[in-house]
Amino acid sequence: MDSAQNSNTGYVFGMIGLGTMGRSLLLNMADHGFRVAGYDKDISKIDILEQEGRHVAVKGFDSLPDFVQSLQTPRAIMMLVPAGPIVDSVIADLLPLLDKGDILIDGGNSYFKDTTQRAEALEAKGLHFFGMGISGGEEGARRGPSMMPGGDKAAYEVVRPIFEAVAAKVNGEPCVTYIGPGAAGHFVKMVHNGIEYGLMQLIAETYEILRKGLQLDNAAINQVFKQWNEGRLQSFLLEITRDIFTYKEKGSDHHLVDDVLDVARSKGTGKWTSQEAMDLELPVPTIDIAVSMRDLSKYKALRVKAAEIYSNKLPAGFAAESQDAFLQKLEQAFYFSMITTYAQGMHLLAKASVAYNYQLQLDQIAKIWRGGCIIRAAFLEDIYTAYQQKPDLAHLLLDQRVSALAQEAAPGMRAVVAAAVTSGIAIPAFTACLGYFDSIRNAHMPSNLIQAQRDYFGAHTYELIGKEGTFLHTEWLPDAVD
Ligand code: 6PG
Repeated sequence: MDSAQNSNTGYVFGMIGLGTMGRSLLLNMADHGFRVAGYDKDISKIDILEQEGRHVAVKGFDSLPDFVQSLQTPRAIMMLVPAGPIVDSVIADLLPLLDKGDILIDGGNSYFKDTTQRAEALEAKGLHFFGMGISGGEEGARRGPSMMPGGDKAAYEVVRPIFEAVAAKVNGEPCVTYIGPGAAGHFVKMVHNGIEYGLMQLIAETYEILRKGLQLDNAAINQVFKQWNEGRLQSFLLEITRDIFTYKEKGSDHHLVDDVLDVARSKGTGKWTSQEAMDLELPVPTIDIAVSMRDLSKYKALRVKAAEIYSNKLPAGFAAESQDAFLQKLEQAFYFSMITTYAQGMHLLAKASVAYNYQLQLDQIAKIWRGGCIIRAAFLEDIYTAYQQKPDLAHLLLDQRVSALAQEAAPGMRAVVAAAVTSGIAIPAFTACLGYFDSIRNAHMPSNLIQAQRDYFGAHTYELIGKEGTFLHTEWLPDAVD
């Protein structure tokens, strides 16, 4: 296979699906000097593409055969269409038009098990297929996303120059790297999104503490997030949160966020992360709770009813100290929670890497998450360093530097959790982080009792300390005393 280079014999890259993501990524490629083509059945999208790309080498097609014919061979085609059956139907339409050796890339948020199946089916037909997670939203796709390609490595090498050119850069290095075989790319993107759910829930709970606990208005909340974002908590999600608290619609006298319904929807990647983690028996409680809270938010009428019965007078737990002192603790609590959330995600990646033979390099994953993606944050530099120094680190919290950071932030975390719980402010993601931390540092969990209970009622057997692997059963009911 040749490297992807510009030539006049055809377009070097084709995009199927010219919605905001597909169009933005294609224009990004064109900006970097690649001659590219796009296909969509919706002609209005082609018009937008050609209008926005009028100064660069980009061409739109509404005929799939013409689009395929316009591409240099071996062809490199990316699909950026909604995950699920649409991906299969695009593949079915494409198959008769492709030649052996062509490269097909699924750049959407596809379920990783679907990617495994598609890769097998397409490889059997002599096509090269790889699944690639892309993060960064519309702006990221246009200016530089973080990309997680996995699967056919030889095929990736062909298009690597294009992706490295368009990816976000951190210290001059592109935020894209080959992730691993099979569906590794989509798996890692799924976990990225799981972490995203956890962090978003933590930020939402922080907002709850700020508005209901400290009773701050939007302007003051904006200042808290602004300040945090200038320090060690710097991250894309805090940056956008800061901005949300200043936004007013033209002519409006109040912030738009106050008009937004408190019902959070989702497309499924967070749920998949939790489901997969449970299948792998690898705990990610902060992500689990983030998924559950989005679900609970949908029961608006039920919550309104329950609120009538259980209304409580807030906020008892916040009166004791100065606002500045509490805000310092809240900053620590957020930092602590953020550490434990990333730690859960990285732990899941380590487990999946073994289970699916993905050969993941966690340092490289942290490295490409430092820029372009939704979970980019200053702390990813610490994660990158931790796994670079010790690629087989069993858990992020075992890293010396990270453990020092977590321990230093733990008192603030406990104070905030105590205040919020006392006041009846719901902070399930914060408490999940603390419970996870206190459990993982517990050399003697109370799980011996659970083993005894299981054996008592179900004869499920148990192991004895120092005799692992020997399974015993006991009749736990004491003999009746005469
Ligand atoms: C990204 C985002 C992106 C998308 C999420 C939203 O990395 O760019 O994660 O993939 O915005 O899928 O997910 P929900 O709709 O499930 O919140």
